[in-house]
Amino acid sequence: MTIPEQLQIDAVRLEEELKELSLFTSADPAAEGTAVTRIVFSKDDLLARAWLKTLAARERFQVCEDAVGNTFLRWEGLEPELPAVATGSHMDAIPHAGMYDGTVGVLGGLEAMRALKRSGKRFRRGIELLLFTSEEPTRFGIGCLGSRLLAGTLDTESADALRDILEDESTGTLASVRVAAGFTGELETVRLQHGHYHAWIELHIEQGPLLEREGARIGIVTNIAAPAGYRILIEGLGGHAGALLMPDRRDALCAAAEVILSIERYALAANTASGSTDTVATVGTCGVFPGAVNSVPSRVQLQVDIRDTNPARREMVMQAVRHDCTEIATRRGVTITEELVNADEPAPSSAHIVQVLEEICAELGIAPKKMVSRAYHDSLFMARVAPIAMVFVPCRNGVSHRPDEYAAIDDIALGARVLALAMARLASE
Ligand code: GLV
Ligand code: MN
Ligand code: MN
Repeated sequence: MTIPEQLQIDAVRLEEELKELSLFTSADPAAEGTAVTRIVFSKDDLLARAWLKTLAARERFQVCEDAVGNTFLRWEGLEPELPAVATGSHMDAIPHAGMYDGTVGVLGGLEAMRALKRSGKRFRRGIELLLFTSEEPTRFGIGCLGSRLLAGTLDTESADALRDILEDESTGTLASVRVAAGFTGELETVRLQHGHYHAWIELHIEQGPLLEREGARIGIVTNIAAPAGYRILIEGLGGHAGALLMPDRRDALCAAAEVILSIERYALAANTASGSTDTVATVGTCGVFPGAVNSVPSRVQLQVDIRDTNPARREMVMQAVRHDCTEIATRRGVTITEELVNADEPAPSSAHIVQVLEEICAELGIAPKKMVSRAYHDSLFMARVAPIAMVFVPCRNGVSHRPDEYAAIDDIALGARVLALAMARLASE
């Protein structure tokens, strides 16, 4: 029996730490209530990282950071040469977000490691907690930046050249921003070899309504849906809002409006054709140039996020959108160009880790729900270097990426307990 019977999660401390972490935010509490905004490498992100390292130091976990700021906290095993078991998630938060996305996996993972240490048992394998850099695409336009580099799926030169889209697009790049944040060194050194970890499990809130709706307290992820991102640039003709006559207009924003509706239409059509709701598409940003009320928009950039469990179907939606773009461009006298940001494959969970999680739930008397993750996670890329799985806990009304995101501490603590017990078993293999 590898499970320490006495293993207990300190839910009170975990809740306090989640609250404390939520205070590292640049959101204005007066204007934005409980919103959390924690952009990668911002002052709040760096302070939150420093705070996490002090928590790790109290436990005497070894800490190391790579050239992009991925941070590894390690509790050494009895056989240090064996590949470790690892968990973790992210602490960066999109603008106006809640306090549980990612943080539950970092602080819940930390508490799981502490609980294992408190149990007095030692394990063959080391146990690690990873804090990933920039799971959210807010600053560099691409999600899972740190884990893409760990998995070697992102060319390091293009990664360093990624523009800082929040600050000064003309000068700021990942290369300059990470060095300013204290993360120097070559990005080539970030990559992990396949087999680096024996097993990987990420704890996360579900970010959807299914667990709550079905009364399940634990979700076991069997597959992570495949995301893709595009930038669509529409260039027309600018001019004076009073003097440029309607028949002469080539308004980039009006063309963009048609493109946005086309994306929505084909995602809905894919749902109807497949009889599932697995295709989702979003235009989340719309940059209008020059952005003055009395100026006809000459240039618009859209950021498009499209996901599916089936990448071929995702591509069919984009093909139909491209067809519409050609027609819109001709009819409106604008040019429309598309830039691919990322088109990723889905990731299956390891049957072995899923089985371990199911056994642990059975021992705890819990009926877990096996499910697909429609959100992406760093686990999508960790699957390129290790066998993975994820543990989901319910969140109220399925709400996420909003300030009113909420997960009950009892559910979070249960998720951390399942994680700890699974890591104990895997670290004993
Ligand atoms: C992660 O934040 C996602 O957008 O799925
Ligand atoms: Mn998120
Ligand atoms: Mn997340």
